[in-house]
Amino acid sequence: MHLPEPRELIAQMEDTRARTLTLIQDLDAQQLMGPRLPTVNPLRWEIGHAAYFHEYWVLREHLGEAPGRPDVDRLYDSVNIHHDTRWDLPLPPLEETLAYMDGVRERVRHHLEQDAPDPRRDYLAQYAVFHEDMHTEAFTYTRQTLAYPPPAIGTAADPGWRAGGLDGDAEIPGGTFLLGAMQDGGSSSTTKSGRTRSRSRRSASPGPRSATPSSRTSSRTAATGARSSGTKRAGPGAAPPVWSTRRTGGAGPTAGSGGTSTAGNRCPPTRR
Ligand SMILES: [Fe+2]
Repeated sequence: MHLPEPRELIAQMEDTRARTLTLIQDLDAQQLMGPRLPTVNPLRWEIGHAAYFHEYWVLREHLGEAPGRPDVDRLYDSVNIHHDTRWDLPLPPLEETLAYMDGVRERVRHHLEQDAPDPRRDYLAQYAVFHEDMHTEAFTYTRQTLAYPPPAIGTAADPGWRAGGLDGDAEIPGGTFLLGAMQDGGSSSTTKSGRTRSRSRRSASPGPRSATPSSRTSSRTAATGARSSGTKRAGPGAAPPVWSTRRTGGAGPTAGSGGTSTAGNRCPPTRR
């Protein structure tokens, strides 16, 4: 598995944390807790949990350090703290939560900058970044679910894009597609002999499909951008292309890729 250099990992940590903070910075104390719903978390809990994940895996599980606060296992462990009880926890105020988050980030940064090469550390550091990325999607759909104002994020609007309802269907041709990954990390779907090169690889031959206009629209207007693709992030005040002010009443997320959220319960895949 390719792992970024420590300098790149630090940049990734900064990137995901900036997104986290952008998604909560304009919310008041009441909004940061929100109503008790099965599909969302209290945001003040969730941001602390995101930092806890970095601390738990990189600093404690791998490096054997002590927690930054003595109470974090009783506050932010998503395995042992049932979702429905997270609103009742003695969560620290926002300022203390942010201080804990900053402290964890600086400790991880210090190790990445100062320590000898350590692939397992780097793997866990990136794992924690990806976990926080996942939660930034949860922060986004939580805001949508609770009818909070659009966050100051989004892809820069391409004048060529159309928003809203689109006419007709997108035709998707049938054929043979690769499911899974190649053992060598390559993207080719077949060898010259046509035999599979990896046991994890499967082929599928679906017939042609047509997609509804709504699915085409959502694929173009996802509220969060991928780091690796260099997605532009608009400045403060720029609304994402699609944001509904309709409150769902707890029926579930209505935006983002959260779908049926794992963040509402547990965090995959290693039980934290
Ligand atoms: Fe999580």
